[in-house]
Amino acid sequence: MSNLFDLTGKTALVTGGAQGLGRMIAEGLLGAGASVAITSRKADICEAAAAEMSSLGTCIPLPCDLSSPEAAVELAQRVREAFDGKLNVIVNNAGKTWGGPIDSYPDKAWPGVMIVNVQAPFTLIRELLPELEAAGSSEDPSRILNIGSIAGKTTAKLSAYSYSASKAAIHMLSRDLAGDLVGRNINVNAVLPGFFPTKMTAHMRDEEAVDPALLGKIPMARMGRADEIAGTIVYLSSRAGAYVTGAEIPVDGGIIGCD
Ligand SMILES: NC(=O)c1ccc[n+]([C@@H]2O[C@H](COP(=O)([O-])OP(=O)(O)OC[C@H]3O[C@@H](n4cnc5c(N)ncnc54)[C@H](OP(=O)(O)O)[C@@H]3O)[C@@H](O)[C@H]2O)c1
Repeated sequence: MSNLFDLTGKTALVTGGAQGLGRMIAEGLLGAGASVAITSRKADICEAAAAEMSSLGTCIPLPCDLSSPEAAVELAQRVREAFDGKLNVIVNNAGKTWGGPIDSYPDKAWPGVMIVNVQAPFTLIRELLPELEAAGSSEDPSRILNIGSIAGKTTAKLSAYSYSASKAAIHMLSRDLAGDLVGRNINVNAVLPGFFPTKMTAHMRDEEAVDPALLGKIPMARMGRADEIAGTIVYLSSRAGAYVTGAEIPVDGGIIGCD
């Protein structure tokens, strides 16, 4: 049991790893022993976050804006160079949302959300297949973890139409890829967070107080904690999760499961 969750010697990329959920995930992977590359759109934020996290292990800042597939191709090249051609784990975490009333929901709310949440993850995965294959074996496959959302699974009534559609798309893409890549020693899973206290959910909180109407939708009546998303990602990245592929795993205090 002692090394079941150990990631010593492993390499991981966490998109959007400088803040929010991605930061929680990057810290978890570093704590388990992995070397981690993180992205952020702003170079200073990316570098400062990597410097702070380097007390936990090797953390490499790779600033990048994933609003085009070309940027994903370029990021893949930098990941390849940073990790000498071997990548054990990709966490496609960077995400974008757009909420608004249906009558005035604009067309411009679609392309950016779909690119960041679906197309860029696909392009990154496609480009990094040789590195994932080089790192994986049948005993210990490489891992692709796509961060979806309960919004892609339930009608969360968030009025974030392009967002919930993009999350349903990344769930399905994960299963499609899992089937295609299982023979190449690459596991693909989608992780579906419920509500965690990040910028994306800031409008649902007043300082630290959470809207009681929101808590009423969560069977555990609380938001998720950093350790709870980090722990799920470490599990799925480690020997403990080697037999899991094609799964959609909610981390949501029971929203999906207890429905
Ligand atoms: N918080 C929740 O309750 C919750 C629930 C379900 C799913 N999720 C999912 O969890 C993931 C992280 O969200 P979060 O809650 O941490 O929200 P957040 O604090 O708003 O963070 C969004 C992340 O995505 C990155 N990002 C946004 N647009 C980008 C772009 N064009 N190019 C590159 N990176 C970009 C941001 O990087 P920079 O700002 O540093 O550039 C940031 O790290 C998302 O996929 C989100 O859909 C979150």
